Amino acid sequence: MPSVSSASSRVSSAPSSGPAPRRTFAIISHPDAGKTTLTEKFLLYAGAIETAGAVRARGGRQREVTSDWMDLERTRGISITSTAVQFEHDGVVLNLLDTPGHRDFSEDTYRVLSAVDSVVIVLDAARGIQSQTRKLFEVARDRRLPLLTFVNKCDRPSLPPLALLDDIEATLGLDATPITWPVGSGPTFEGVVDRRSGHLWEFERTPHGGSIGDELSTPIRRRDDDQEHRSTAWDELDLLSAVEADHALDGFLAGTATPVFFGSALWNFGVRLLLDAVVDLAPAPSAWQSVGGGEVRLGGQVTGQVFKVQANLDPRHRDRVAFVRIASGVFRRGMSLVNRRTGRTLTTRFAHSVFGRDRETVDEAVPGDVVALVNATDLLIGDTLSEDGGVEFPGLPAFAPELFATARAAETSRSKQFRRGIEQLDEEGVVQVLRTADAGDREPILAAVGRMQFEVAAHRMAGEFGAEIVLEPLSFTVARRTDRDGAERLANRTGVLVAGRRDGSQVALFATEHRLAAARRDHPDLVLERIGSS
Ligand code: G4P
Repeated sequence: MPSVSSASSRVSSAPSSGPAPRRTFAIISHPDAGKTTLTEKFLLYAGAIETAGAVRARGGRQREVTSDWMDLERTRGISITSTAVQFEHDGVVLNLLDTPGHRDFSEDTYRVLSAVDSVVIVLDAARGIQSQTRKLFEVARDRRLPLLTFVNKCDRPSLPPLALLDDIEATLGLDATPITWPVGSGPTFEGVVDRRSGHLWEFERTPHGGSIGDELSTPIRRRDDDQEHRSTAWDELDLLSAVEADHALDGFLAGTATPVFFGSALWNFGVRLLLDAVVDLAPAPSAWQSVGGGEVRLGGQVTGQVFKVQANLDPRHRDRVAFVRIASGVFRRGMSLVNRRTGRTLTTRFAHSVFGRDRETVDEAVPGDVVALVNATDLLIGDTLSEDGGVEFPGLPAFAPELFATARAAETSRSKQFRRGIEQLDEEGVVQVLRTADAGDREPILAAVGRMQFEVAAHRMAGEFGAEIVLEPLSFTVARRTDRDGAERLANRTGVLVAGRRDGSQVALFATEHRLAAARRDHPDLVLERIGSS
């Protein structure tokens, strides 16, 4: 653990015995707001990496990318896959689940949010909440996940901080309760005031933030300055106190208020205060509800849920990894767990933690931890594992696809590889795969929430399965779940296509909302259910 000078009066949360407490969280942001930089700085502060730049190669000049492992990720400079990183800070073990950082909304990110207990939202101080990621933030809010907000890049000219608070409140409907407050921005940025202690943390530009550096705080002196940005900050602080925009733990835990921090990840500024807050404020894992409403006690038998499945994670291994969030009990490698869906028992001899390409064997894991089970070929997203096989957690909520395309093998000689690849991508939930009675496996329909899902599918089909695909966009925009009767009655309607899923369920695709409304009008008794929570 690195030693960091601190003027705050925090009490270490390390318990006297037993496993260290956990905080399992994700960082979400609009691309470029600074998620990667912040992740890297968290690891730096926690002593998990020694120099900044280890997580991502900057301009290809530094070490190999750690969490960006796919070619596509490297070429596009984005992180598509999720891995879990574990590190320690102040006696608390933090599990940081990586979320895909691309512009599109992706189902993958949504699933990651099902496996965390809190979320850090990173905003660019000059941009506020950007429209493309609004959906992601809304998902986090709708799940009532406690959200911490980090306003990044304060070293650059920024939006007025009060406007940023308004933006959060108006867009997300959350009370924004600043814990720190910026003094100046860009060239006049002097630091942040910790509203709890009245201290000013002074901003210093350390060279590219490669090491932690000293952090100094002094009590703020309001009277003897004539700088405009300072008097503005003092006025704003008075205003915040007057309207009682103060952090309240219960509002934060209930997901109705978000504590806000300001800083600059690049310059390692405000990062430690945020990391401290994750430890101090973010909730520890709590008991999950099982189907049927029963609470699964944290200290009971081992249970967990698969939130991600990924094949060929490492081209050197060519295997299939299922990521399981432990919900209760103490997991020990090698123990037998039962998959509730299939009733089959699996031994967990190959349990790992995965950080980019690196794997380490996990011998023990407690609630909040993520275990990567290698070659557990039977496991699908949403599966519940438990010792006695009697527990089932609610499935991971799905999103209604809005984009559809038919896929076929570019070369007919590769049809076997094509079928195998499509099946794998379907199981992993990279895209949803639908099959019509006519075209079946030859030309399945790929359905997605974000366009990037198609790109990932095409890239992986060519790279991992040796089957290049040709995608032809379809002009459907709305999908509804139906039943056999609905499928028959809708079969010959114009602007409607019925297709089946792997699990046997039927989906009706409509060209427009208007077509859907017309079908409803003509057949009021038809089953046409919304898919997921969108
Ligand atoms: P992302 O994962 O959310 O996509 O963002 P990332 O951390 O990659 O940051 C995007 C860009 O913003 C990077 O610059 C990064 O250095 C810069 N950045 C991150 N935090 C801060 C900050 O606090 N202040 C300033 N001024 N810049 C910040 P880049 O030019 O794209 O990359 P690089 O050449 O610096 O690596």
